[in-house]
Amino acid sequence: MADNSLAKTIYLKDYQPPAFLVESLKLHFSLDQERTLVTNTMQLKRAPKVTNNPPLRLDGRQLELLRVTLDGNLLDSGRYSVDPEGLVIENLPTKFTLEIVTAVNPKSNTSLEGLYASGSMLCTQCEAHGFSRITYFLDRPDILTCFTTTIEAPQKKYPVLLSNGNLINKGTLAGDRHFAIWQDPFKKPAYLFALVAGRLTTLEDSFITMSGREVTIHFHVEEQNRDKCNHAITALKKAMRWDEEEYGREYDLDLYQVVAVDDFNFGAMENKGLNIFNSKYVLAQPESATDSDYEAIEGVIAHEYLHNWTGNRITCRDWFQLSLKEGLTVFRDQQYGAQAYPGGGRRIREVRRLRNFQFPEDAGPLAHPVQPKEYVEINNFYTTTVYEKGAEIIHMLQILLGKEGFKKGMQIYFDRHDGQAVTIEDLLNAMSDANDYDLGQFRRWYDQAGTPTLAITQSWHAQTSEFILSIIQNCSPTPGQTEKQPLHLPLAIALLNSDGNEQAATLAGELVPDSPGSRVLEIKDKKAEFRFQGWGCKPVVSLLRGFSAPVQITSNYDKKELAFLVAHDRDPFSRWEAIQKLALNKILNLMKDPEGSETDKLFIETFGILVKKKWSAAEADGASELLILPDEIYIGEQLNEIDPQAISKTRQTLRKTLAQRWQQELEALYNEHQSPAPYEPLPAEMAQRRLKNIALNYLAALGLKGPGLDLCRQQYLKADNLTDRLAALSGLLEIITAEELPELDEFYLRGKNNPLLKDRWFALQAAAQHPNTAQRVEELTRHPDFKRSNPNRVRALLGTFAAANQSAFHQPDGFGYQLLSREITTLDSSNPMVAARLAGSLSRWRRFSSPFSTLMREELEKLAALPQRSRDLREIIDKSLVTSQNDKLKKI
Ligand code: PHE
Ligand code: ZN
Repeated sequence: MADNSLAKTIYLKDYQPPAFLVESLKLHFSLDQERTLVTNTMQLKRAPKVTNNPPLRLDGRQLELLRVTLDGNLLDSGRYSVDPEGLVIENLPTKFTLEIVTAVNPKSNTSLEGLYASGSMLCTQCEAHGFSRITYFLDRPDILTCFTTTIEAPQKKYPVLLSNGNLINKGTLAGDRHFAIWQDPFKKPAYLFALVAGRLTTLEDSFITMSGREVTIHFHVEEQNRDKCNHAITALKKAMRWDEEEYGREYDLDLYQVVAVDDFNFGAMENKGLNIFNSKYVLAQPESATDSDYEAIEGVIAHEYLHNWTGNRITCRDWFQLSLKEGLTVFRDQQYGAQAYPGGGRRIREVRRLRNFQFPEDAGPLAHPVQPKEYVEINNFYTTTVYEKGAEIIHMLQILLGKEGFKKGMQIYFDRHDGQAVTIEDLLNAMSDANDYDLGQFRRWYDQAGTPTLAITQSWHAQTSEFILSIIQNCSPTPGQTEKQPLHLPLAIALLNSDGNEQAATLAGELVPDSPGSRVLEIKDKKAEFRFQGWGCKPVVSLLRGFSAPVQITSNYDKKELAFLVAHDRDPFSRWEAIQKLALNKILNLMKDPEGSETDKLFIETFGILVKKKWSAAEADGASELLILPDEIYIGEQLNEIDPQAISKTRQTLRKTLAQRWQQELEALYNEHQSPAPYEPLPAEMAQRRLKNIALNYLAALGLKGPGLDLCRQQYLKADNLTDRLAALSGLLEIITAEELPELDEFYLRGKNNPLLKDRWFALQAAAQHPNTAQRVEELTRHPDFKRSNPNRVRALLGTFAAANQSAFHQPDGFGYQLLSREITTLDSSNPMVAARLAGSLSRWRRFSSPFSTLMREELEKLAALPQRSRDLREIIDKSLVTSQNDKLKKI
């Protein structure tokens, strides 16, 4: 059911500390699929600083209120008032006990927030405001209390009963019912509460912490998945060890539980001691998970575990501080991942993700600061800006303060704020105090939306042997922010001499030359100039090494210098960036010149050198990224107006040209990097598979007459793992239509009893680079396995189509947009969070050329005119359509 409550805006500046505190909370659940009874007994007291007698307002939505008792006395309904968002009681003593009994219907709860059914299980999702769909409570993260939870349920249907903390009692009851009592000794906000009940198998393992305590690990999954948990369990133990070694953080409870559920709105949730995971991010087996899935599982397992200190022990004061836990925890999981997967490709993939999703968000109508100042629906702010740009901000801090300085800051943060609900300011203060370092200007990164651009002019002065970098930083206006202040950022660079070696980049006036290698230039002002001395001839500068700041760079490189960097730069990012720039230049020239007089061969030759190179297993990961052409979305970002069809056509043409020119070499590359059987998800083997499959992908571009068809068919047949099978299938789908592809039907059958594999079957077709894809997606929305109640399935088909297949989605007749908007309309009445997320794909209509922009807008207007819209969808649509002041200044 759509949430039709008023769309009122919530502002950071209105934050008020709570007027009441919760001293303890006892929850009692009597579980039933259709009518669960919740008894909530809280001890409350007026906050010490409050001098008047304010009313108590408890949050609660879609609850059937049965009874309210104050200090043992039943209140009649005149003593309190109820509205769709909560319950208000006036005239309360300074200290009192409230008992509230409510009923909810988990089965009809399709929003997947609060208590809901997933398959035969019952589970909860409380972040950000799901708890208010379970019971009346002060549902805000700065209210921390100890939870004791009793769960009572039919024994047969729900043999396993779980909640946060430690199991303190269990037993049987009359009528084939049983109960379990869980107590969480750590104070926590309601958003970290969790409950799970179901028929689950438990896999047990254990971990000895740095102080020698034994922690029991329980993974609870459905019986058919018990053989798919090893990878995640191993990853969890690795992450636990890593946080001890890297940050001195030890796990605090004696039990760590993970549950896998099929229906889940996001990736996973860090509930205290009881993580709930989308099964996609736990379950892995070579037959049903790709290399990327294995890597992603390790990342999400680490992410949720690392939240125990950054998020749970130290939590957020309010939801404007979301990046305090998310940006920091993404940074920590990236740090963990960098040592687990040391190939150079990983950082590049992080950058690609940021550029393909976060940069466009930051340049569109939904742009917001990493610390938003206002929101209508907080669910809309679990964004790539808050998460990934937030992580980049922490990364910059680490560069500016140095690794040791950063660690010292984290130590102070943990020491000062353990057990508290704090702000981004508190984290920055800890960093600043630990290092005696002024972060006043740096803080703007949290307040200013938009991706800054650094225009870097290189100049060589032979007379004085000086190489000068002149830098101007700029940031385009974003909604509500026309004026931008200069940001403080680290620009990591190196200067390469003509042999390709790094030479000391000594600044004018510096006495002691710093050692060769990267050095960090601190940028603070709008304009800056750096003069490097003592050069016999012009050096080649390697810029933004390691992607030291989330900015766009333009610079006056000579194309030969870029090719030089591709050959010599030791920094994987900067080297990759050099070839991306060459490729981009080639693509943009081809787009300007569709007649084909563009004959520049430099990129094509540079590509050839890379294909011919003998890459070691250790280099394969970075190498595979070098061979991928700039993503379509990123190409679009470089243009004033995005013509998705022209971009796709040009990119495909170039892909084909490369494949034709280097066919033999690509075949050799393909043969050289066959990975050993049996399959193992080891980083070095993953890298080889990636490289091999990129070669295969180019060969598929040659179509029916090329070697791709046979190679794909053979690879499909002999594959002992999903990575190779999918790579083969996606090649085949480019060559042959889905209807004529027996392999596709074979693949479907493999997924018969495995929903995650079935998702792949849908996603594969939605991702196909084929003129029929949009039609096919439409047909698939009518497939009996297309379950709109399952977010993974929806994302597999519609998410892939609308967010990851630019050429298929942007049809010149608007077919793709109409399809999406119909689906959004349907989904909004069942799962607003998922619907609103899909709508994001239409939001950037202004950036597209005609007829695309008009057709996208038409669909947005239809959605705006819907009689019933969720608050989630309304916020996205309204922001997408609003004519902001900025539009007049610049087409954003
Ligand atoms: N807090 C979760 C994470 O990033 C994400 C999440 C948000 C999950 C809201 C569910 C609902 O780890
Ligand atoms: Zn998180």
